[in-house]
Amino acid sequence: MAHNIEVELTSNKKKKPVTEQLEFGKYFTDHMFIMDYDGEQGWHQPRIIPYQPLLLDPAAKVFHYGQTVFEGLKAYRTPDGRTVLFRPQKNFQRLNLSNDRLSIPAVDEEFALEALKQLLVIDQDWIPEEQGTSLYIRPFVIATQPSLGASTSTHYQFIIIMSPVGSYYAEGIHPVKIHVESDYVRAVRGGVGMAKTAGNYAASLRAQDTAAASGYAQVLWLDGVHRKYIEEVGSMNVFFKINGTVVTPALNGSILDGVTRNSILQLVRSWNIPCEERQISIDELYEAHKNGTLEEAWGTGTAAVISPVGELNWNNERLVIHGGQTGELSSKLYNTLTGIQRGELKDEFGWLVQL
Ligand code: COI
Repeated sequence: MAHNIEVELTSNKKKKPVTEQLEFGKYFTDHMFIMDYDGEQGWHQPRIIPYQPLLLDPAAKVFHYGQTVFEGLKAYRTPDGRTVLFRPQKNFQRLNLSNDRLSIPAVDEEFALEALKQLLVIDQDWIPEEQGTSLYIRPFVIATQPSLGASTSTHYQFIIIMSPVGSYYAEGIHPVKIHVESDYVRAVRGGVGMAKTAGNYAASLRAQDTAAASGYAQVLWLDGVHRKYIEEVGSMNVFFKINGTVVTPALNGSILDGVTRNSILQLVRSWNIPCEERQISIDELYEAHKNGTLEEAWGTGTAAVISPVGELNWNNERLVIHGGQTGELSSKLYNTLTGIQRGELKDEFGWLVQL
């Protein structure tokens, strides 16, 4: 796709938040990328414009039938002054997997990365530099055809917005408490669980609100058929260290194929720590906790990075993990991953893409 990207710069730059104000996803940079799709022209008119509200018809299909997908990735400034993205190709690949599942036309992955790089060049002074901060990037596609027919849209917009962020959880890098959900399910095999689409998150809110009211940061989902196998946490994939072995649920069609999940698997394997991707039942976790072999638990995600889990609540029983403290392996993984992402450690896996 050899389109030129039109650029309209703002004459009204916003005041940047200071680090202490960096709540997740609250502030946005000065510019955004946007491109349109219709059946005749395909994806066309890519442009970078001042950050602004969208003008959409109230009948746009995205509002009624949720035909939309999104991604999340991050940019960092390295100590030697480079701006880098962490594994962006994987996000644009996954965007197209989600697009395919939601019957949305594919975007050109190379062009999307090029557009993101151009946007970043313009707004790179928005990348916060303190430890624990980054520039979170949210590419997304929405169905814009104004029609109430429940059918595939003819028109779309692909948009990229960017937000300077600190920790996703109020707990920061301290362990979070998680409620194991036994009433609701997030996704079922054959559904849209493996796609990054709004409906998965909307479906999770009722359970999450109930868990939050009892002091739990997130919900751990069990599978929708047997109601016993671990799937993922609301905004993260999940890992356990049981008797020296790292285990994480295998990708089964209803779990998100996380970029951080994949990176953690590579790191753990490179350290020769036994590692398994397989079914894990809640009963197995319960037993492991009882006999003292559930050594650590942590979640992984772009927004959450590595988030240690200090407690699981299952059927009103509190399973405290590693004394509610961050475990050694979770800590080593956090330090190594963020060290690579921030350009402070050697990028042995070739994960960083420079502007
Ligand atoms: C991410 O980690 O990038 C996500 O999209 C999760 C979202 C709930 C913030």
